[in-house]
Amino acid sequence: RKKVKSIVEVTPDSVIGETVTVKGWARTVRAQKALGFLEVNDGSSFGGLQVVFEGDLVSSLKGVGTGCAVSIEGEVVKGGGKQPIELKASSFELVGGCESDYPLQKKRHSLEFLRSIAHLRPRTNTLAAAARIRSTLAQAVHAFFDEEGFNYVHSPIITTSDCEGAGEMFRVTSLDGKELSRSSEKDDFADDFFARSAYLTVSGQLSGEAYACALGDVYTFGPTFRAENSQTARHLAEFWMIEPEIAFADASGAMDNAEAMMKFVIKKALSDCKKDLEFCDKFYGNNELIDRLTSISGSEPFLRLSYTDAVSLLQEEIAKDPKKWQFPDVEFGTDLATEHERWLAEVHAGGRCVFVYDYPRSIKSFYMRDNDDKQTVAAFDLLAPGVGELVGGSQREESYDRLVAKMTEFGLDPEDYWWYLDLRKYGSVPHAGYGLGFDRLVCYVAAIENIRDSIPFPRYPGSAQF
Ligand code: 4AD
Ligand code: MG
Repeated sequence: RKKVKSIVEVTPDSVIGETVTVKGWARTVRAQKALGFLEVNDGSSFGGLQVVFEGDLVSSLKGVGTGCAVSIEGEVVKGGGKQPIELKASSFELVGGCESDYPLQKKRHSLEFLRSIAHLRPRTNTLAAAARIRSTLAQAVHAFFDEEGFNYVHSPIITTSDCEGAGEMFRVTSLDGKELSRSSEKDDFADDFFARSAYLTVSGQLSGEAYACALGDVYTFGPTFRAENSQTARHLAEFWMIEPEIAFADASGAMDNAEAMMKFVIKKALSDCKKDLEFCDKFYGNNELIDRLTSISGSEPFLRLSYTDAVSLLQEEIAKDPKKWQFPDVEFGTDLATEHERWLAEVHAGGRCVFVYDYPRSIKSFYMRDNDDKQTVAAFDLLAPGVGELVGGSQREESYDRLVAKMTEFGLDPEDYWWYLDLRKYGSVPHAGYGLGFDRLVCYVAAIENIRDSIPFPRYPGSAQF
């Protein structure tokens, strides 16, 4: 990192002998008569800084315990024990006391318990590491697209169209529970807007396509919503999605972009979140995480496999030993289950990321471009070890007639998508894009098992207390 936030995360040699002020929260406090120790964490990095109190200053630790907000001035000295540095306090201020029922006493708490105190859990090593890694990845996503010359487009949150056509939209209503309807009889514009039901967006793709067909290469990065009643470790009702859209590109161009983006952001996390990733690796990654990330972000390309080949491989595996993997059966036309996806990435691809492309048209969305075989579409998913589907993307149907025919076939009313169809009437071009589930990326990079621990205040059925 260029900007050093605090001495907690600097290399020791550069600060020894300096007088500094550290502001943060006490992790542990131990005081005897002539000597006191306080471990402080200021949120900048994993772990804490040991502060040593001597002489008269020891008495100022009276009543100071775990969770208190503190400010300490002192001289940085070489650490006595395992720590490379410690602070010799010269002045101390208790900024905010902490009541004795503070739920985060210094011990390991279960992640499940921590979810019930989502407002306090960022003070733990695990959730703080996840938050810092998440922030670094988000910045890296923007840096990648900026370097590639993409424009960042803010797509709307309130929409009228169901991008995925899956009917998983949250309806937006006014405070009294009534649907938003005419706000003013006189205002024609408002009348048009509020006359239709409004929903929270499931994807920014359709707006992204409009902007790609004007600016060339664009991406969106914002919250998206799915009203699916799922209680899994991979689904949230509110999640963040990165959706690039590339004009004059086909599906393989979009896959190339997704692969380059993944490698870029993982490299950035490896260089900027070293301490946090080491911590995640030790506690959650089986000591394989950093090696895996280093290899994934290296020069070896991701595996690419057609859906048809993927199904054959899974069928062979099932035939070999039907009990071993406990897979659901698969045949052409089956939507791959997480178990299938994870086997493809973890076993078949040997722990690497794998693209599966050319899915059956019947299980994919209306906007995807049909392949010449009329059975499959130019769609792809990126499957990652431990996570399963991380990216879903496709080449979009650019022909007006074919798109109208497909919408009708899929039971959608072309009139609802009039503006989207306009893009096919006025200077239509082949274009492609994808959506990367950002929270799943955080899980993948930080070895987080449950997506609810990748985002500060997770939204899932029953999470309404925060
Ligand atoms: O495959 P999906 O549904 O694709 C789309 O929404 C396209 N419109 C994207 C595009 O082409 N622009 O979702 C894309 C990704 C998935 O691969 C997954 O990583 C993530 O979004 N995702 C979820 N993440 C968390 N919770 C959920 N409920 C998710 N649903 C999808
Ligand atoms: Mg998908």
